[in-house]
Amino acid sequence: MPSSTSVDLTHHLSTETRLRKPNPMKAIWRLTRRKPKMISLANGDPHFSLYPIRRVEFEVASVGEDIENPVQTWRTSGPSAPSQRFVSTTDGPSSLPLKSALQYSAGAGLPDAQRAVTELTNHYHSPPDHHTTLTLGNSDGVAKCFRLLGEPGDHFLADEFSFSSLTNAPLSHGIKWVSVKIDQGGLVPEDLERILSNWNEEEQGRRPHVLYTVPCGQNPTGCTLSVERRKKIYALAQRFDFIIIEDDPYYYLQYESPDDNVDCTSKDFKFIPSFLSMDVDGRVMRVDSFSKIMAPGMRLGWITSNFAFHDALVTLTDSSTHHPHAFGQIFITEMLFAEGGWSIAGFDRWVRSLRDEYKRRRDFFVDSFYNEVARSGYASAELPEAGMFLWMKVHLQKHPRFRTYKNGDGNAPGPKTNTKELMEELFERCLDGGVVVMPASVFLVPEAAKTTDEDPIEDRLNFFRLTFAGPEDTMVPALEILGQVLKEFFTEK
Ligand SMILES: Cc1ncc(COP(=O)(O)O)c(C=O)c1O
Repeated sequence: MPSSTSVDLTHHLSTETRLRKPNPMKAIWRLTRRKPKMISLANGDPHFSLYPIRRVEFEVASVGEDIENPVQTWRTSGPSAPSQRFVSTTDGPSSLPLKSALQYSAGAGLPDAQRAVTELTNHYHSPPDHHTTLTLGNSDGVAKCFRLLGEPGDHFLADEFSFSSLTNAPLSHGIKWVSVKIDQGGLVPEDLERILSNWNEEEQGRRPHVLYTVPCGQNPTGCTLSVERRKKIYALAQRFDFIIIEDDPYYYLQYESPDDNVDCTSKDFKFIPSFLSMDVDGRVMRVDSFSKIMAPGMRLGWITSNFAFHDALVTLTDSSTHHPHAFGQIFITEMLFAEGGWSIAGFDRWVRSLRDEYKRRRDFFVDSFYNEVARSGYASAELPEAGMFLWMKVHLQKHPRFRTYKNGDGNAPGPKTNTKELMEELFERCLDGGVVVMPASVFLVPEAAKTTDEDPIEDRLNFFRLTFAGPEDTMVPALEILGQVLKEFFTEK
């Protein structure tokens, strides 16, 4: 086994992962690569001449240096927008001939596709010594990480409002959540430290050994962790020996840095250093996706981790999905390496241009939000520094029916206000008005163990998540409805 980062972290692997045996047939299959010209009578690999496909051609946006803003050009010029083509045929000369691409391959993905994502990771994060494993996108990637590390009865840590599609995933494996406070700057390191240093293993079981977090444009709150917070969280991970699952689909959609407020369009702008880039121990599992920068239907992404975790991920994949479909892998390989492809420089031009486009949408949405919704004083929002979401705060205390309860009213130690009920009512009114928003309650970390009662989360559910990723022509009408619904809700007789 090649040596990885210096710290042995295999004690984090779950019993399920330790018990999982490598797929014995895959082990024999790998031997076909032991020396050149090995003849295999071993595997039931369909012969490539029987694939009913001999050519795949991709036509993609041109990202040449002569095009100042490739996304804008692509979006607005319709069929006449300049494009680039790359082709894969049975025997090549493409980077990844169909003959090999369409065959069964390894759990880490096709070696060329793995090289493509490794080069992207090295370019943006330069991790010390890590390995990549292809996935079917971040949902698949994160769910696999949970499975790799989670023992029934374990506690995992997550932002108190989190991406519930994924925090739901490990519940059926017996994982329990502990929620960590977040503020406008994202996860609060001091709260994380409080939870971990007060943990009583005799009463509460094993101390949480996994943190799931979304560091850029957090879903749902839109906040981004500063470098200082990232360093503090990483130091806590070393001190309390936990693994960080860095789910970062919005990494490329950074509009301002929380550290120095440099505008992303300025030449000085640098992507914020990821947890992976700081990971000297191998305790970060970084999960990347093509969903938000290419297309979600591609269902392709990758995990970057230490070698032992990579090996365990491959074993899991070898006995389940085998590997992602070939077409996505061909696409990214050709996109980066083919003559006529984008190369890393072109990819970088695309993601920076995409970021400018989303920033434009964000600014338009935020302006409209201030005009149509926030002006009334019934709601407000912080400017999201990354991602696709605005976290709208409803100023419920201005509502005529808003109530606070004193201890002794039978409500202590639970919620001290009627926030939950009022927000449910407001949500229904939005639907009646014709606009769908995401209530904060959807993002509550499910069944999270209570770590404090002083500031119950039920009293902080006065938020809706709004997205600015959708069609621009519906943004203003939707916000007009929202503004009107709020006015009626707050001024009811
Ligand atoms: C934080 C977060 N993780 C994961 C995903 C899912 O990504 P994928 O499409 O790659 O599965 C999303 C999508 O909205 C997300 O916001």
